[in-house]
Amino acid sequence: MSARSQVPFSAPERVILGIETSCDETAAAVLVEGQLRAHVVSSQLDHRAYGGVVPELASRAHERRIVPVVQNALEQAGLAPVDLTAIAVTYGPGLIGSLMVGVNFAKGMASALGIPLVGVHHLEGHIYAIFLEPDPPPFPFLCLTVSGGHTVLVRVEAPLRHRVLGQTRDDAAGEAFDKVAKLLGLEYPGGPALERLAARGDRGFVPLPRPRLGGSLDYSFSGLKTSVLYYLKRLPEEERMRLLEAHRADIAASFQEAVIAALLDPLLRAAEQTGDRHIVLSGGVAANQALRRRLEAVCAERGWSLHVPRPSFCTDNAAMIAMAGYFRLRAGHRSPLSLAPQATVSL
Ligand code: KG4
Ligand code: ZN
Repeated sequence: MSARSQVPFSAPERVILGIETSCDETAAAVLVEGQLRAHVVSSQLDHRAYGGVVPELASRAHERRIVPVVQNALEQAGLAPVDLTAIAVTYGPGLIGSLMVGVNFAKGMASALGIPLVGVHHLEGHIYAIFLEPDPPPFPFLCLTVSGGHTVLVRVEAPLRHRVLGQTRDDAAGEAFDKVAKLLGLEYPGGPALERLAARGDRGFVPLPRPRLGGSLDYSFSGLKTSVLYYLKRLPEEERMRLLEAHRADIAASFQEAVIAALLDPLLRAAEQTGDRHIVLSGGVAANQALRRRLEAVCAERGWSLHVPRPSFCTDNAAMIAMAGYFRLRAGHRSPLSLAPQATVSL
């Protein structure tokens, strides 16, 4: 099914404003007849000094940025607010104070313009990001979403019909990258820095455990992070510093290797069980080239096709929210103006 079939002139999915404020990116995008016309992301760098996202700072920054970010997206699209036919907004999961800014703004704008509002689950956004690309997979497909907040394996059976096959029981993969990066003395968010370091390291240097969760398709990363912690902390400070100086890249490469193996194992077993031949990788960690290359090789061997959104659609953005909203609006979904943000909500 094409996401870009002809849209009737009066249909609410014709000109969608997407809004995303679930974590530390304030983002807005405009989708016209299923085609992306504008895409603005304002990333909050203020959290770096604290080594992680500070919820209170995040909501205040969203509050300051939401109006200029939306205005900027409308300008890029060459449109005025009255041209909009619907608004799609992330209602959860995420930081409650951050979500409130986007949801309240979207409700105010939708009610002032008298147009429909549709609430979008953040993970649904990550799944439908692939429909922003020119060659999306047919249904059904398997989607592995790996980000700082989530690690979830979903079978997308038909538009808006999803079955969660597995998810993390503790840390998300991105969170594990960030925590281990911190142990290695890298700046937050450490995922990209850890990958750069790992590129020149020996991935067999530290023997790290592979999580085993029986026959389940769930994930676990906290044991892996703890193993790196014990590996470093078993040494007195001076020796630890010497080890880090000589082998920081090798430790990074060993950890990255263990994460890749842990991510691929349930995905491959799921594909074997379901017989699905189209795989989607999404979320911030999908930017990791080593993970992409490994999954590409595995898919090529088995004759499966791999679909990965471009990096700017993998990390948090509003284009993916607008696209998920497009599918929802087209299926007749509307949210009431009493729509409430939810910090935790399952897919
Ligand atoms: O999807 P995203 O932008 O935000 C969430 O919804 O969490 O993902 C951000 C996460 C961070 O944990 C970051 O360290 C990780 O994605 N990440 C990476 C890479 N680029 C971003 N992890 C490993 N390798 C990368 N190249
Ligand atoms: Zn996300």
